[in-house]
Amino acid sequence: METKLLTIDNIAEAGEIIRRGGLAAFPTETVYGLGASAYDADAAAKIYAAKGRPSDNPLIVHVCSKEQINDVAEDISDDARRLIDAFMPGPLTLILRKRDRISDGVTAGLPTVAVRYPSHETARALIKAAGVPIAAPSANISGKPSPTTARDVLEDMNGRIDAVIDGGQCEVGVESTIVDTTRGTPVLLRPGGVTYDMLKAVVPDIRLDKNVLSSLAPDEKPISPGMKYKHYAPEAQVTVVEGEKDAVQAKIKELLAENKGKKCGVLIMYGAVYDDAVMINGGYENSEYARNLFAALREFDRLGTEIVFAEFRENDGCALAVKNRLYKAAAYRVIKAEKTAKRPCI
Ligand code: TXA
Ligand code: MG
Repeated sequence: METKLLTIDNIAEAGEIIRRGGLAAFPTETVYGLGASAYDADAAAKIYAAKGRPSDNPLIVHVCSKEQINDVAEDISDDARRLIDAFMPGPLTLILRKRDRISDGVTAGLPTVAVRYPSHETARALIKAAGVPIAAPSANISGKPSPTTARDVLEDMNGRIDAVIDGGQCEVGVESTIVDTTRGTPVLLRPGGVTYDMLKAVVPDIRLDKNVLSSLAPDEKPISPGMKYKHYAPEAQVTVVEGEKDAVQAKIKELLAENKGKKCGVLIMYGAVYDDAVMINGGYENSEYARNLFAALREFDRLGTEIVFAEFRENDGCALAVKNRLYKAAAYRVIKAEKTAKRPCI
């Protein structure tokens, strides 16, 4: 199959592909999605095949209006309604009770469905053109960093899907915030562009799922099936070096010296000071770092980097989202760089 490269001008054609049971990747404000009709179980099955995705990991259903949420979900709680009114359209996904018309192939047999109403114009135009809600995971091969450009999508999906709509670089850069509203008190399952503080302002008793910043125990069953899989990981081995500027830079210099002879890279937050390393700028503000993170991880792989050290410090509302993705990419290999104590004056 040849994958067509489309633009917003071909939105009717892309809608037709989806309506007929095909696969089209499209931009959203978070990352690119790999879309199929949410009412077509066979089309959903094609998504799993194209991504190499485990069949127990459910898909997010994308809608183009608040009214359309009622077509796919029912028994929507008051807290969920508040979150819909406050943050949709936008980078938020809510877990809701599913309606029967959403097939088990989309929800992996769960009685719930993940619903998202994106703010990206192209995404909304596509859902409208398709005339059906669109089931879409991130448009990467399972386990790889999510794609934030059409080029990234083609790198993984060329020949496996019917089309990709090129909408440039995604604004947020990491996947949507996911909140489960089906178990009483809402639970934040995946941090993203709608931050924990923003959510707390609307639903004060929301909790943070403990798996947001730590790995699962070997026999633990997460609420969100996707949490148990390796994620966002490049080929290179990633280590996060966390802390204040001077301490982080000193530690990374030490680590680079220890790894001489290997192709090393540094994901930069503070400004470049390293010799003999591939350097890619993440950005100082955490929101900028979020936008660049997955693209940078992919670029390190293109350059054949074996080891990546990622500078990191929390400094804005996107910190939790970046930390969650970075820790996973690093398989929780995190070094806290401490300031070296000054010698006392004698
Ligand atoms: O920003 C995003 O959310 C992007 C764009 C394309 O919208 N999509 C995305 O989809 O990141 P995906 O499939 O890569 O991640 C969806 C996550 C998975 O971890 C999955 O397990 C979880 O959502 N999920 C889906 N349905 C669920 C459900 N009913 N209950 C709990 N978790 C669910
Ligand atoms: Mg994904």
